Amino acid sequence: MASSFGAAQVLVASNRGPVSYEVRQDGSLHAKRGGGGLVSGLSAIGPDAGALWVCSALGDGDREAVRRGVGEDGVRMLDVPADVHADAYNGIANSVLWFVHHMLYQTPVEPVFDGEFRRQWASYEAYNRAFAEALAEEAAEGAVAIVQDYHLTLVPGMLRELRPDLRIGHFSHTPWAPVDYFRMLPDDIAEQVLRGMLGADRLGFLTRRWADAFTACCEALVGGLGGTEIGVHGLGADADFLRKRSHEADVDERMAALRAEIGEGRRTIVRVDRTELSKNIVRGLLAYRELLAGRPEWRERVVHVAFAYPSRQDLAVYRDYTAEVRRVAQEINAEFGTAGWTPVVLHVKDDFARSLAAYRLADVALVNPIRDGMNLVAKEVPVVSDEGCVLVLSREAGAYEELGEDAVVVNPYDVSGTAEALHEALSVGAGERAERSKRLAAAGTALPPARWFLEQLDALRS
Ligand code: G6P
Repeated sequence: MASSFGAAQVLVASNRGPVSYEVRQDGSLHAKRGGGGLVSGLSAIGPDAGALWVCSALGDGDREAVRRGVGEDGVRMLDVPADVHADAYNGIANSVLWFVHHMLYQTPVEPVFDGEFRRQWASYEAYNRAFAEALAEEAAEGAVAIVQDYHLTLVPGMLRELRPDLRIGHFSHTPWAPVDYFRMLPDDIAEQVLRGMLGADRLGFLTRRWADAFTACCEALVGGLGGTEIGVHGLGADADFLRKRSHEADVDERMAALRAEIGEGRRTIVRVDRTELSKNIVRGLLAYRELLAGRPEWRERVVHVAFAYPSRQDLAVYRDYTAEVRRVAQEINAEFGTAGWTPVVLHVKDDFARSLAAYRLADVALVNPIRDGMNLVAKEVPVVSDEGCVLVLSREAGAYEELGEDAVVVNPYDVSGTAEALHEALSVGAGERAERSKRLAAAGTALPPARWFLEQLDALRS
C-alpha cells in the first residue's frame, strides 16, 4: 500500500482556491492570486515543505488551465463537471447550507426539499467525493488534511474511509445554525452532514457560540460528538500586511479620488461587504436614511461610503438584493442630496486598494450583519483607519465576541436602533475614538492568519 501514498504532508481543501485564471484575448492565461486568511496561513508553510492546496476549477479560465496543465506549485485544481459543480455550489452549498446557517429562509414558502433538491444533493455528494479522492491520492502517510467550510462537509467522513492513517480537520467559516433551525433539513441529510463532519479528528469554529450550536445539533440528532474534538480559533486580521499595503501608492491615489467624492470636512460612515444577503446592507442604508431624517443636523456633514461588491450573481436572490441596494441608495440621494453633497457614495466594482482607502478615511465603520461567522472588516478598519474609527457592530457577528466591549453594539433588525447607534458613533470625541480604535485593533489582530492556521495544525498533530 505504501507505494500508493502521495507526497503532501499538509493539505488544505476548499471550494475557492488561492489562484484563478482568466483567458486573455490573445488566448494566453492570466493568473490572479487571491488574498484572505487561508492564503497567508498556508504560505507560512509553502509547497517546499510539502503543503498542497486542493481546490475547485471555478470558471472557464480555471478549466482551461487544468486542460492545458498550467498551474502553480502547491495547488491542485479539480475540474469537476460544470453541471455537477453548479448543483453542489449554487444549489446545495449556497442556497441550502448557507441559508440554514445564516437563517435566511422566508419560512412560509421556503425551503422546499423535493425531488430537485435530492438530485442536487447527489451532485453535492459527487463533488465532495472528488475532493476526498484527490486528498487521498495526494497525502503522504500520516499527513494532516484540513478541509474548509460548508461546501465540503462530507469530505472528512469519506476521506477517513479511504485513508484511516491521516489526521483530518475541518474548519467552518460560517455560523452554525441552532438545532431547531438546522433540523429543517430532511433527517437523513442533517445526519449525513453531521456524520460527514464527525469523520474528522477535530472540528474548528470561529467562535464558541458556533461551536456550541454544532455540539447541540450532534447531541440532539446523532447522539453526540463521538471521539471528535472541537476547537475555537477566532481568525484575526493581518496587521503587518494591512499597515504596509494601505500605504502603497495605489491606495493614496484612491484616497484622493474618494476625498473628492466625499467633500471637505465631512464625517464618513464606511462599510465594505460582498453584496451578500446576510450582510444586511439594505437595513444599514435605511438606518442612515432615518439618521438624516430624524437628526437633520447631520445633513451635509456626513457621507455614507458603501462598497458592495458583486457576489454569487448566478443566484436570482443575490441579483435582486444587489438591485435593492442600488435602489435604496439612489432613493436616499434623491431625497436628501444637494448640489454639493451626495449622501451615499455607493461602489459595486470590486477594488481592494479602494477598500483600504475607505478604511483609512473611516470615522465610523458600519458592520451590521444579520448573522456572520466572524466578519473581518470589523477587525480590519480599526487597524487601518488614519484617525481611529468607532465601530458600529451587530451582536450577531462572530467578531462581537471579541470586539463587543469597545464597539457600539446593535440588533441588526432594529433600524431605528441602528440609526441611533450611528448618531452615537458620529458623536464620539476624537480622543476617545482613538483610544477605542486602538483597543479594537489590538483585539482584532490577536490571532493573525498564519498563527490561526499553525495553531490548528499543531492541535491536529498532537
Ligand atoms: C464566505 C465563505 C467562504 C467563501 C466566501 C466567498 O466567507 O465562508 O467559503 O469563499 O464567503 O464566497 P464565494 O461564494 O464567492 O466563494
